Amino acid sequence: MERAPATTAQPTPVSVLGLGAMGRQLARCLLAAGHPTTVWNRTPAKADALVARGALRARTAADAVAASPLVIVCVLDHEAVRRVLEPIGPTLTGKALVNLTSDTPGNNRGLAAWAAEHDIAYLSGAMLMPPTQLGSPEGTILYSGAHRAHTAHAATLKALAGRAPYLGPDAGTATAHEVAVLSLYYAGLAGMVHAFALAGGEGVPPQDLVPHLGAILAQFPSVAASMAEDIGTGRYSKDADVLAIHTSGLGHIVKASQDRGISTDVPATVKGLVDRAIAAGYGDCEFASVVEGMRG
Ligand SMILES: NC(=O)c1ccc[n+]([C@@H]2O[C@H](COP(=O)([O-])OP(=O)(O)OC[C@H]3O[C@@H](n4cnc5c(N)ncnc54)[C@H](OP(=O)(O)O)[C@@H]3O)[C@@H](O)[C@H]2O)c1
Repeated sequence: MERAPATTAQPTPVSVLGLGAMGRQLARCLLAAGHPTTVWNRTPAKADALVARGALRARTAADAVAASPLVIVCVLDHEAVRRVLEPIGPTLTGKALVNLTSDTPGNNRGLAAWAAEHDIAYLSGAMLMPPTQLGSPEGTILYSGAHRAHTAHAATLKALAGRAPYLGPDAGTATAHEVAVLSLYYAGLAGMVHAFALAGGEGVPPQDLVPHLGAILAQFPSVAASMAEDIGTGRYSKDADVLAIHTSGLGHIVKASQDRGISTDVPATVKGLVDRAIAAGYGDCEFASVVEGMRG
């Protein structure tokens, strides 16, 4: 019996607009996965190394868009996205546009409305990783917006990050997750820097502190799970570590910082949030109840 020749789908041509640290790595991942990859950057020289690896250089953003059914934009911020895309909206008609630029949920909804006017399948993506993790199985990019774009280009998106979940049709949803996760990230970094400063003020070398920071960091997954339960239901646990205890502990951290002339910005801000919740009647509740003073 004659066997039908095996059909292998050709990798989709992709264009990448923006070749900063992330955009260059996105293009490298696409080239590594065999995608015909067209690149454009405001400063053209940043494309040189990619062209040497086989990327096609586009002279203008419009030329790049014309080359592929899937266009990825990854530039500095919202203003840069608008500057690049708005003049070339009609050239994107009928194409899938994946915006991996960090932004606010509201701005992404605005871009989705703009894209809808031009019949562009707009997908917003949130890259929860540094450039070094792009293309890895454990890398995560969250997507929301046009489902048809996520479905049609699922294999291509997997080349950028092994985890590429679709979170729903609202183009703001992926970014909502991103800003929330980054809020934890930056607050955590500020707390960590303050910890090193405070320990250093008392003569504790940074390396000596690291194992003990780990003991606290290890608690975060279980704290996140119980906090999500409390905030989700609006019923706050009263088992242990209630706000009245926290304000006392935070008072010690503020005083210890003052004693060594170290900024109290981080602990004083947290103490202010705790004290506000106590004043609102949550003194016998756990830390999650602080959210009551944060909502507008
Ligand atoms: N780096 C990370 O670890 C990381 C992680 C997650 C998410 N992100 C997000 O990914 C996005 C890109 O980050 P990145 O690290 O690649 O930034 P980057 O290295 O600073 O590159 C910025 C890019 O934006 C372009 N750009 C800036 N203003 C522009 C304008 N007005 N018109 C056209 N192009 C403009 C730059 O072009 P020129 O080369 O011409 O200046 C460059 O290609 C950002 O939204 C960032 O928040 C970054």
